Amino acid sequence: MIFTLNAATVDVDAHPMKRLLDVLREECGLTGTKEGCGEGECGACTVLIDDAAVCACLVPFAQVRDARVTTIEGLGGDHPLQRAFAEEGGAQCGICTPGMIMAALPLGEKPSLRKVREGLAGNLCRCTGYEAIYRAVRKA
Ligand code: FES
Ligand code: FES
Repeated sequence: MIFTLNAATVDVDAHPMKRLLDVLREECGLTGTKEGCGEGECGACTVLIDDAAVCACLVPFAQVRDARVTTIEGLGGDHPLQRAFAEEGGAQCGICTPGMIMAALPLGEKPSLRKVREGLAGNLCRCTGYEAIYRAVRKA
């Protein structure tokens, strides 16, 4: 099935009902997208589909036909959000971090604290207490 993955057109062979999360990690080798709960509650698996943040554990692969999928690997490692998370201590164990960053991307530059809290409300972190994450997103 053809879709756009991190700005490249790809043709990936996988069962249409396989979870996008698993297709990304297994067929595409992109293990930056993490699995936490596996049922849409934690946000660890957040990716962008056509600029909207979605939980990849809830999306059947068939739904991304002809769509644009962006994962944490698509940011290249030197994105302002990635730098800000490192500088502000927004990542500890790191499991939630890719999902946090992908969920923060649609918030745009210098979002208000309220907008950050709302935008990341579906992303859980067991380590940081959230304040460093909010600082990082607002800084970026
Ligand atoms: S693994 Fe997808 S929301 Fe938790
Ligand atoms: S840094 Fe460990 S869950 Fe967020």
